[in-house]
Amino acid sequence: MDAAKAAVARPAGSVERLAKLAAADMASVDALIVARMQSPVSVIPALADHLIEAGGKRLRPLLTVAASRLCGGRGDAAWKLAAAVEFIHTATLLHDDVVDSSQLRRGKVAAHLIWGAPSSVLVGDFLFARAFELMVETGAMKALDILARASRVIAEGEVLQLTRAHDLNLSQAMYLEIISAKTAELFAAAAEAGAVAAGADDVLSAALRAYGMNLGLAFQLADDALDYGGATETLGKNAGDDFREGKATLPLLLAIARSGPREADFWERAINRRDQTDADFRRARELIIGTGALEATLDLAADYAETAKAALEHFPASDWREALSALADFAVSRRA
Ligand code: IPE
Ligand code: IPE
Ligand code: MG
Ligand code: MG
Repeated sequence: MDAAKAAVARPAGSVERLAKLAAADMASVDALIVARMQSPVSVIPALADHLIEAGGKRLRPLLTVAASRLCGGRGDAAWKLAAAVEFIHTATLLHDDVVDSSQLRRGKVAAHLIWGAPSSVLVGDFLFARAFELMVETGAMKALDILARASRVIAEGEVLQLTRAHDLNLSQAMYLEIISAKTAELFAAAAEAGAVAAGADDVLSAALRAYGMNLGLAFQLADDALDYGGATETLGKNAGDDFREGKATLPLLLAIARSGPREADFWERAINRRDQTDADFRRARELIIGTGALEATLDLAADYAETAKAALEHFPASDWREALSALADFAVSRRA
């Protein structure tokens, strides 16, 4: 089954429902984002705006806002935390595109190719610092603790991935540890911080953290599948980046295990030695689809999405809960 058919067999999901419910909150969050990316050092807003104006799905701040609403919260602490969460995410994207030598982000030329890697890294640092200013302004020490910890864990995940990048014997457990740190932790923290800002008790904060963590795992698994099964035009980033980087993601690891000794030389050359032609990516793609590795990755993503949805059962039925449930399906079925 190809990627499109595999996704069709799953619940479609949507981010629209949540985006609509949260539209007024997100307008406030966006206003904060624009206000706080300003600086008298003109290259900072120029570079930041290049990425921020391109949009992105704004999933993580949506999580903060929705978690807060689900716990009966209102008011500007959640908006500030949501803006901080998006700044942390944007900072990691600026750093990540340098680390991964990626050329395209949100459908635009990656910032480091326009302003250079040093400016990109330093503006990433600026956005991190802005995030911390926003968090301190809320006076919510617990939320600050959650997001400070997440920032540290993301960095650990990125470095851990760096040291294991080309390891074709990477275990599934280690792969999951990496994506949990580099991606799922921020989803978990975004949701938990929203709950905490709304004054939720420990049980409900933990439920939203579990929702975010499982959603984040599903999201990154789907992302790693899309790197082989998706299209550059809809992704807004280049399909095949992981392969060209020789990154040991689950679709690749499963395909290597399933294609056996017959393809061992191919994987050794293309991934270990990174001696590649364009035809090699097509071959890898065919093997990843043909061995069912892509579908198995999406199946695992769907399992995590189900676990995420189950965590929402701590809450009574509401529009917010349904919208978060649809978001979990979207994380797996998405094309962008
Ligand atoms: C990209 O995240 C980084 C990953 C964790 C895969 P998103 O796909 O949420 O990026 P934007 O914000 O929508 O561009
Ligand atoms: C995303 O990493 C995680 C972070 C940005 C911390 P990836 O490198 O897997 O994501 P893309 O494919 O560049 O968006
Ligand atoms: Mg990357
Ligand atoms: Mg990366």
